[in-house]
Amino acid sequence: MQIEVKHADPQTVYKALIGVVNPRPIAWVTSVDALGRVNLAPFSFFNAFGASPPVVIFSPVVRRDGGFKDTLLNVQATGEFVLNAAVESLSEQVNQTSRELPHGENEAEQAGLRLVPSVLVRPPRVADSPVQMECKLLQVLPIGSGPGAANLVIGEVLLFHIDDAVLDDRGQVDPRKLRTIARLGGDTYCRSTDLFEMHRPQ
Ligand SMILES: Cc1cc2nc3c(=O)[nH]c(=O)nc-3n(C[C@H](O)[C@H](O)[C@H](O)COP(=O)(O)O)c2cc1C
Repeated sequence: MQIEVKHADPQTVYKALIGVVNPRPIAWVTSVDALGRVNLAPFSFFNAFGASPPVVIFSPVVRRDGGFKDTLLNVQATGEFVLNAAVESLSEQVNQTSRELPHGENEAEQAGLRLVPSVLVRPPRVADSPVQMECKLLQVLPIGSGPGAANLVIGEVLLFHIDDAVLDDRGQVDPRKLRTIARLGGDTYCRSTDLFEMHRPQ
């Protein structure tokens, strides 16, 4: 099969892309609007792109109706967000918080999640998640237009909160304890359980 993007419909392209570029980590993003109302949503167009400073990018795409997602609007309004680790024990809640609620309604509350204040930014953290990263917005980079178009939210991590329970005996995050989930194509996800190690060539 070949898909030449300029002749294909956007849904076909989307399905091919997420079917192939995976597993994708999940940014579980808390943000607030100008009135301080909390929003929580997952985004699997997400990764980290440098460590000094620590740079993260996620992409709330343009909605089917041509509108922008609350997370994008909030981050643009406040310049701040929090990335909470999407872990296996919270997978139901991660999924539930992807519901498109009316602006201003709190997905965290509806999913029964506890929120705690952040230290450096206004959006709160998901207390139940073992890792939360407080971030400031560096830039929003829109690419394309219409439904599905990317809006790269480029941010810098200012503060990591890491539960000691997910650390190994050298003080590093142990993936066997953190147990993040990741998204594949369609409704398929994977766990961080089938791990193996390789040493870098000298
Ligand atoms: C695991 C998962 C990953 C998702 N990844 C994305 C994504 O990368 N970009 C996006 O725009 N929507 C993504 N969605 C859908 C959003 O979570 C959904 O549109 C959400 O309602 C947006 O919330 P907001 O309008 O409150 O910001 C994803 C949903 C799930 C369940």
